[in-house]
Amino acid sequence: MNELKKKLAEIQAQAEKKINEDGIDPEKVRIEYLGKKGDLTAVLRSMGSLSPEERPQIGQLANKVRAAIEAAIEARKQHLKASQLEHRLMSEKLDVTMPGERFEIGHRHPLTKIRRELEDIFLGLGFSIAEGPEVEYDYYNFQALNIPPNHPARDTQDTFYITDSVLLRSQTSPVQVRVMEKQKPPIRIISPGRVYRADDVDATHSPLFHQLEGLVVDRGITMGDLKGVLELFAKNTFGEGTRIRFRPHHFPFTEPSAEVDVSCFACGGKGCRLCKGEGWIEILGAGMVHPKVLSGCGIDPNEYSGFAFGFGIERVAMLKYHIDDMRLLYENDMRFLSQF
Ligand code: DAH
Repeated sequence: MNELKKKLAEIQAQAEKKINEDGIDPEKVRIEYLGKKGDLTAVLRSMGSLSPEERPQIGQLANKVRAAIEAAIEARKQHLKASQLEHRLMSEKLDVTMPGERFEIGHRHPLTKIRRELEDIFLGLGFSIAEGPEVEYDYYNFQALNIPPNHPARDTQDTFYITDSVLLRSQTSPVQVRVMEKQKPPIRIISPGRVYRADDVDATHSPLFHQLEGLVVDRGITMGDLKGVLELFAKNTFGEGTRIRFRPHHFPFTEPSAEVDVSCFACGGKGCRLCKGEGWIEILGAGMVHPKVLSGCGIDPNEYSGFAFGFGIERVAMLKYHIDDMRLLYENDMRFLSQF
C-alpha cells in the first residue's frame, strides 16, 4: 500500500512537471496519465489486490491526484491561451504614427502641359478649339493657302507626300481653310496639333512637332486686333513685362505678313545668351488673312477681314523652360520629365 501511495505521488509530480514543459500539449498529458491506458488508471486497476480497508484510502488519494492533475492541465491551458493572445496582439499591432508609404503619381508631359496652358489663354479670349486631319490633301495644306504647285514656299516646308495629292500636313494652317469652308464669320479658333516635316533630328528639329494656329475672321478686323491678342499671349506665356514687335515678312496666305518677336524674358531685352545678344526672340508668324484665301473659302473679302498666326509649341516650351535640346521632349527620360 505504501508502494502505491509513493507511486501516486510520483505520478502527480511527473504529470505536473510535464504539463508545464514548453511545447507540450496539456491534453496529451491528460491522455498519458488520466486516459484509459494512463498511468493513474493503471494504479486504480491494481487496487484489486488491496485489502478492503486500504482501498478507500488509495481511492481517495487517487482522486486527489486526478483532481490535482486536472487542475494543473486547466491552469496550463489558461496560461497558454493568455500568452497566445498577448503574442498575437503584439505581432498584429499597428503603429498609426508611422509615416505612410508614398506612391509615385505621374503627371502630364511638359508638352501637354504647355499646350493646355496656351489653349487656356486663347479659350479665355473667346477662341474655341478646332481640329483637322494630320493626313491632309495638298489642296488644304498648300493650294487653298495661296501656295500653288511649284511655289517656292513649298521648299521651306520639306513635306512627306503619301500620293501626289495627299501628304502629312506640314503646318496647322490647313485647319483655317477647313473651318472657313464650313463656318461663316464671326470665326475665332485656335488649332493646336501635330505637324510633319522631312527634317533630320537635331537639337532644334524633329520630323514630328507641334504647332498652334490662330484665326479670327469678322467684319472690321484689323492688325490692331492681332497685336492685342498676341500681346496678351506673350505676357501670359513669358511674363507680364514681355513686349512684342512685328517685323515685315512674307507668308503666301497673309497680306501683310509679319514675324513677331517677344522681348527676351531672360534679360528683359538687354541682350544675353538666350536671345543671342539681340534682346528679342522670334516666336511666331502672323498676318492679315489674304483676300484670295478668304474668297477661296466662300468668304467675301470686301465684307470680312481676318488675322491669323501660327507658332511651334516645342519652341515655346523650350524657351519657357530653358530646354536646349528638343530631343529631350521626345525621349521620355524620367530624369528630365520628373522636373516638370
Ligand atoms: N504656317 C506657318 C509655318 O508653319 C506659320 C504661320 C505664319 C501661320 C503666319 C499663320 C500665319 O497662320 O499667319 O511656318
